[in-house]
Amino acid sequence: MKQTLLLKVNPTKPELEKIQTAAQVIRRGGLVAFPTETVYGLGADALNPDAVLALFEAKKRPLDNPPIVHVANASEVYKLAQEVSKEAELLMKEFWPGPLTLVFKRLSIVPKVTVAGLNTVAIRMPKHNVALALIKQSGCPIAAPSANLAGKPSPTNAKHVYEDLNGRIDVILDGGSTKIGVESTVIDVSVVPPMVLRPGGTTFEALKKVLCDVQLHPFVEAEAELPLEKIKSPGMKHKHYAPKAQVILVEGTSEAVTCKIRDLAESYMIKGKKVGILATDETQTYYKADVVLSLGSRLDLATVAQRLFRLLREVDAEGVDLIFAEGVSSEGMGLAVMNRLRKASGYHILKAE
Ligand code: TXA
Ligand code: MG
Repeated sequence: MKQTLLLKVNPTKPELEKIQTAAQVIRRGGLVAFPTETVYGLGADALNPDAVLALFEAKKRPLDNPPIVHVANASEVYKLAQEVSKEAELLMKEFWPGPLTLVFKRLSIVPKVTVAGLNTVAIRMPKHNVALALIKQSGCPIAAPSANLAGKPSPTNAKHVYEDLNGRIDVILDGGSTKIGVESTVIDVSVVPPMVLRPGGTTFEALKKVLCDVQLHPFVEAEAELPLEKIKSPGMKHKHYAPKAQVILVEGTSEAVTCKIRDLAESYMIKGKKVGILATDETQTYYKADVVLSLGSRLDLATVAQRLFRLLREVDAEGVDLIFAEGVSSEGMGLAVMNRLRKASGYHILKAE
């Protein structure tokens, strides 16, 4: 077991000596968890293969699923990517720093382990002063997947990171709760037209305003697991965001969803099961269950996204057998929310009519 150092940092004006302590750990090949605007990341020197390997081990992450490489300046991209298209430059100008990850053809300076043997690399510039200061002080690009154990919901505060990784990593920089709550949008700009591989903090609507042509990978809205040959992003084939309890996602109109969940919850509770419900402000009073938590208003999908991973962890911590989750609209941030809920449910999806 490692001794994990917990350092509270000011999220807007991070204390330089704390950042330097963490940066030294990165430079020596160690592992530092840090806040970004989306979720917490677990960072290692992206150009140090041993450090990146240790990162995979700490997270118990399959070696075929590469992390995102984080930079503090868009100019860093040209040192890592082989080709930067006009569309990519447009996206970086419009959305960086921010929750958008671009997949480029890579240069050979990027170690194989960092990209899981692929000839592409995923890069983003986060919009968080702690993340940016850490990258700058470390003097290297930082490979950082979300700072959770593989398969668990992504961490949106330092407590989540501690629960999953205490004793397995060197430092946790605690900068409070993250603003966006779901990960960055991943878009492949090595293909024409660019293709969204994972919906996230940058909405598809916002991308369409900037790009004349952009496609959505079928997996983004998939309601069942895709056949292997359709998989474009390694992360698509692994188990994700799953609490211990079985999640059942119920989709349909608000009224139909509420009725269906109410009936199902009752029938499972009669059978002696402990039931949790992820509801919304508009519906939560209609339910009787062991645990009922609201993700926020159905009309405020940014809040639903911000709370999603925390509430998945909280309802699971109550030791429930089943979690019923309400489907929401797929507009705006709803696309990322629905993608995470479908994956968290292992595609146990019911249609309510
Ligand atoms: O918001 C975020 O993106 C967070 C914070 C920490 O920045 N990071 C994050 O990393 O979510 P991770 O490793 O949990 O997810 C990275 C995703 C995975 O789905 C992975 O398969 C995909 O990006 N990815 C990485 N490199 C890729 C590549 N070369 N081609 C296609 N997909 C790639
Ligand atoms: Mg992740």
